[in-house]
Amino acid sequence: MNHRLLVTGGAGFIGSNFVHHWCRTYPNDQVVVLDALTYAGNRCNLAALEGRENFRFVQGNICDRAVIDQILQTENIDTIAHFAAESHVDRSILGPSAFVQTNVVGTFTLLEAFRQHWEVTLKPDYYRFLHVSTDEVYGSLGPNDPPFTETTSYAPNSPYSASKAGSDHLVRSYYHTYRLPAIITNCSNNYGPYQFPEKLIPLMCINALIGKQLPVYGDGKNVRDWLYVGDHCTALDRVIHFGIPGETYNIGGNNEVENITLVQMLCLLMDELAPSLLVRPTSDLITFVKDRPGHDRRYAINATKMKTHLGWSPSVTIQEGLRLTVEWYLHHRDWWEPLLSDEYQAYYQKIYS
Ligand code: NAD
Ligand code: DAU
Repeated sequence: MNHRLLVTGGAGFIGSNFVHHWCRTYPNDQVVVLDALTYAGNRCNLAALEGRENFRFVQGNICDRAVIDQILQTENIDTIAHFAAESHVDRSILGPSAFVQTNVVGTFTLLEAFRQHWEVTLKPDYYRFLHVSTDEVYGSLGPNDPPFTETTSYAPNSPYSASKAGSDHLVRSYYHTYRLPAIITNCSNNYGPYQFPEKLIPLMCINALIGKQLPVYGDGKNVRDWLYVGDHCTALDRVIHFGIPGETYNIGGNNEVENITLVQMLCLLMDELAPSLLVRPTSDLITFVKDRPGHDRRYAINATKMKTHLGWSPSVTIQEGLRLTVEWYLHHRDWWEPLLSDEYQAYYQKIYS
């Protein structure tokens, strides 16, 4: 059957990759993007889809119930893919309020609107509410702990992860209380095209290209489980089509890497691929800086359930994915240069000075 999707946060990093994936894979489906275009949202990410009959962009806030109701009814939406969020841990430390507003209140507003829409349309069994969440809700692992599974207890350590945990709990409660057909996914660190410059991998690529220091927090031995964003999109596609309402699915790359190792890999790729660099070798720019407060030491995902229940596993290796990503930032200076705005420089000063 053809779906009618509402994608919140579809102008952000993962959301826009997902919208491209969906429109390419299911050209007969209807896709509406709702995005507030915060500093992290960028309509250029969707430029190739503008004007298509099966695509519509609405600038609006997920806390605005009237806008959501209007879209759900007029577009006859059957599936929500909910990406919209404040997503950066360092910004949540500087100003947690927006995180509670968007991630908790916004998710609640969306759930309420979708519940009413689902009830009024007589609870069709193919309706879905996909809540895209994070592995950070599980807290931090020790070096020998097993990776997070779907039954790991929640232990969020930052205002960002606490607000995502709050939204996960609300989504869970809407399934258990109202039987709203909601599914939660908890994914590890994504990387790839269209990621905002503040995150580790784009920050290192862009700083290398402009000859700026590569700031590694603390001792650089924090571990993240990296997943190429295209693989995240195929996983979410599986979950929407075959996932079971009320279930949670962990999505990860099975790819644990220490930050300092990852940065060194990026430096080697930059040295190989960039035709001109202000500083070469790029690794001369690596600088250890003050650690992030409450910095989680290690994340790792056990994605066995995605493999055994939904037949999904990641297809892009870290070597391939980093190469694709470095090439993308090399060839899309016109995309990232305007994002290094005065607002971004002010944020950068606060974090790194
Ligand atoms: P992002 O910051 O790049 O994009 C977020 C998007 O949401 C932006 O387009 C922004 O304009 C929009 N938005 C923010 N507040 C809004 C509001 N109130 N109303 C409407 N739109 C709003 O984030 P991302 O990295 O693409 O992450 C997307 C989702 O995936 C988030 O929920 C995040 O928690 C989750 N996630 C991210 C990662 C990762 O590594 N980036 C990993 C796992 C899960
Ligand atoms: O695990 C999933 C999460 O991954 C998502 O839920 C978040 O939305 C996403 O931002 C990401 O969170 P992290 O905090 O892990 O990502 P970030 O890119 O900010 O940092 C990755 C690691 O690199 C982390 O250990 C902090 C470190 N770091 C980051 C920056 C920006 C540095 O050492 N230096 C930096 O300048």
